[in-house]
Formats: sequence, structure tokens, C-alpha cells
Amino acid sequence: MNNKVFSIILLFIGIVVSGYGATPEKLRKTLTNGAPMHDTQGNVINAHGGGFLKIGEYYYWIGENRKNGVFVSCYRSKDLTNWEFRGDLLTRTSHKELDKANIERPKVIYNEKTGKYVMWMHYEYGPDYSYARAAVAVSDDIEKPFTYVKSFRPFGNMSRDCTLFKDEDGTAYFFSSARENYDMMQYRLSDDYLDAKEQVATLWPGGHREAPALVKRGDYYYIITSGCTGWAPNQAKYAYAKSITGPWSELINLGNATTFESQSTYILPIEGTKSTSYLYVGDRWDGKQYFNSTYIFLPLTFKGENKLELNWTPSVIPVVKSGELITER
Ligand code: GAL
Repeated sequence: MNNKVFSIILLFIGIVVSGYGATPEKLRKTLTNGAPMHDTQGNVINAHGGGFLKIGEYYYWIGENRKNGVFVSCYRSKDLTNWEFRGDLLTRTSHKELDKANIERPKVIYNEKTGKYVMWMHYEYGPDYSYARAAVAVSDDIEKPFTYVKSFRPFGNMSRDCTLFKDEDGTAYFFSSARENYDMMQYRLSDDYLDAKEQVATLWPGGHREAPALVKRGDYYYIITSGCTGWAPNQAKYAYAKSITGPWSELINLGNATTFESQSTYILPIEGTKSTSYLYVGDRWDGKQYFNSTYIFLPLTFKGENKLELNWTPSVIPVVKSGELITER
């Protein structure tokens, strides 16, 4: 074989090998609002009413699944667009109290003192929403099945739509809709996060708010909530406070009359080298066909001292390295 033929063969082998070495699936860069989202195995992502956690390089997304006796599933991603399914955290068989349960809006935070991940959620038993309880589960590993602890009504109050918020000093709070969703309650958790230790406040008594999501930015805490119209979307409102224990501002409209056909579930800070952006994460529910529900990711912009804005964009490109969000208008 002469040299020329030999080098052509080598070149050919090189091209084939490098082709095979390349990432098999095409990496997604965009979050497309309202479109079905698939994980890296091609399955539809079921993480509704969910929350997020950043651990090392990974963002974890934990939310409602409801398929085949699963309640809560876990996904992870380095770029917020390519999500790898990591496992089911809570299922119908995790505990006898869960055999006929309905679990909604699970949220997980990490407890530095105990080294455990703690999940709080809305617990129902049977076909309706009359149990109105909070439930707690715990795990040493964010990707492994959680141990169910209990369900209860904090301080005897009904507890439906809910969220967790961990403050900078490690104090954690549970917010949930009480009194047939008329009152939004705020509870301070015990040091191990497994209990509600103190009833801190009743936010906007009679205000009829649900789907709470909180974030702290600069000197202010912000809370976004929805109105109460079941699966149908409505006008989101926000409020701000200088202290997590209030007083909170009045409720101020956010986004449009249907919050772009979504209901709040989380505010995700994306901290990068250039800036920190904030993504509003909402569910676009399909109450008739739950699994047709999709997700809405919109940049939340802060104007002036404490004004929040939410505008529609069909898609978002999160650039996690710089902390920027590129939008299409
Ligand atoms: C919504 C609530 C959802 C779900 C739904 C049921 O208001 O935010 O999590 O409970 O009602 O109708």
C-alpha cells in the first residue's frame, strides 16, 4: 500500500471515530414555553408544581409526576435545558398513608445541620381536597427515595397549595393556603425542618391566594401567588417585604390577566459570572388531561427598588455560566 492510500484510510478512520465519539443526542439550548419537554431519554418530563435546588454543578428539578403510582420525580441538568431523569423520590408504596394519596407541589430544601434533604408537600387522601394537610419526607440523598415522615395540619390549620423558603441564615419557612384557601399562612420550621415550630403570620387574611413562590434579592423578599380558580389560570400578584416576617406590601398585579396561561410554582435564581437572573417557573395546567400540562419559564425582571415585571416570551435560552437569559420577542 503506498503512502497516499494509507493516509486516506487513516483520515477515513479518523472521521468515523470522531463522529462516533461526539455526543449522540443533540443538546437543546432553549426552553420553549408551553411545549412538551422531554428528558435525555426522550420521555416527557413530569415535574409539575415543582421546585429546584442547585447542588454543585447541577440544578435539580423535583415535582409532581402522578404516573404509575409515582408522586414525586427527580431530574437534573447542568444547563437547565437538558434534563436527565434521576429517579422517583416518593411513590404510592413509600408508606401506607400514601396508598390512596394525592401529592401536590412538593418542594425540597437541604438542612445543613442534619445533612438531610427535606421535602414538604400538599397531602390529600382520596378523591377530593378535604384532607388539606401538609406532609413531610426526608432523605440523605437528593436522588434516592425519600422516607415519608407524616402528614398533618400545621397548628390545626388546613394546608393546601404550599412552598418552602430557606432564608440566608438557614431558617426555613413553610407557606400554605389555609381556611379553604382564604388565608396564606407562614410557619417557621424546626431546626431539623421536619416540623412547623411557629405560626409566623397570616398574609392577606381573606385574600384567597395560592401557588406561593418566594425569592430574596438584595434587601427585599418577594412572594408571588395566584388567585384561586382551580386548574384555570388567573392574574398572579406579588408582594415584597424587607423582612421575611413582614410586614408585606399590598398585592400588586404581575404579568397579564392569566399570567400567560400559567400558575406560579417557583422562582429560580441563576447565579452566573456576569449577573444573577431570575426565572419565573409556572405550570400551564391541563386539568382535563393532567399529562398534557406544560411549563412556562419567563424572566422575572426587577425594576427600581422593589418593582417586579413578568413579560411573555415564546422561549428562553438560559446561559448558566454568565447568569444571563436570552429571550425571543
Ligand atoms: C390549583 C392548585 C393546584 C391543584 C388544582 C386542583 O389551584 O394550585 O396545585 O390543586 O388547583 O384544582
